Amino acid sequence: MGCLLRLAIVLLLAEGTMVNFRVLSRAMSSVARAFEGHGVVPDVVPKAPTTDIKVKYPSGVEVNLGNELTPTQVKDVPTVTWNAKPESYYVLAMTDPDAPSRKEPKFREWHHWLVGNIPGNNVAAGETLSQYVGSGPPPETGLHRYVFLVYEQPGKLTFDEPRLTNRSGDNRGGFSIAKFAAKYNLGDPIEGNFYQAEFDDYVPILYKQLGG
Ligand SMILES: *[C@@H]1O[C@H](CO)[C@@H](O)[C@H](O)[C@H]1NC(C)=O
Repeated sequence: MGCLLRLAIVLLLAEGTMVNFRVLSRAMSSVARAFEGHGVVPDVVPKAPTTDIKVKYPSGVEVNLGNELTPTQVKDVPTVTWNAKPESYYVLAMTDPDAPSRKEPKFREWHHWLVGNIPGNNVAAGETLSQYVGSGPPPETGLHRYVFLVYEQPGKLTFDEPRLTNRSGDNRGGFSIAKFAAKYNLGDPIEGNFYQAEFDDYVPILYKQLGG
């Protein structure tokens, strides 16, 4: 075999291997890679979802797999959409595993939003268990991860959690979305997303709203 021909074959094989690597890393979705890369797996859920939820804030910003946003940008309730079956019910959660800090998360998780019995992805028609509260990371506690998860319910459910308003921070800490999911047999989240945020000057305003 000619030297050039052999070289050509070696190059072709190398190219094939590269393509395989690319296909493999695409098979592990960008969502799963981000959840594992930022430790959301295992800190919040044992298994990453494969698809990202679309979360858009009235301020114009969107949540994108660990991007950095400010408490000011996320102060109002976002619009959230996912690939929903119209006849199914869903749970939507937003939770912070890094309360009061990622280093010492002794209040893990502090949940920001919890809605159940959502028909399709019509969040407004769901049953709000905990009203939306924006990010309020204390000063000097670094970046917190704010994780959105959607679970498909086995059917319509009766939730026995206390209903929480956006006027108080009581009963928000010490939460576990994984335990909540296990309690209601929700399985693994079907979709997820998250952003990160640290203290800014909106946080004291939020604390006032929460009666702090
Ligand atoms: C708190 O919830 C009420 C609805 O009960 C809503 O009108 C109000 O805008 C919310 N406030 C904030 C700051 O999200």
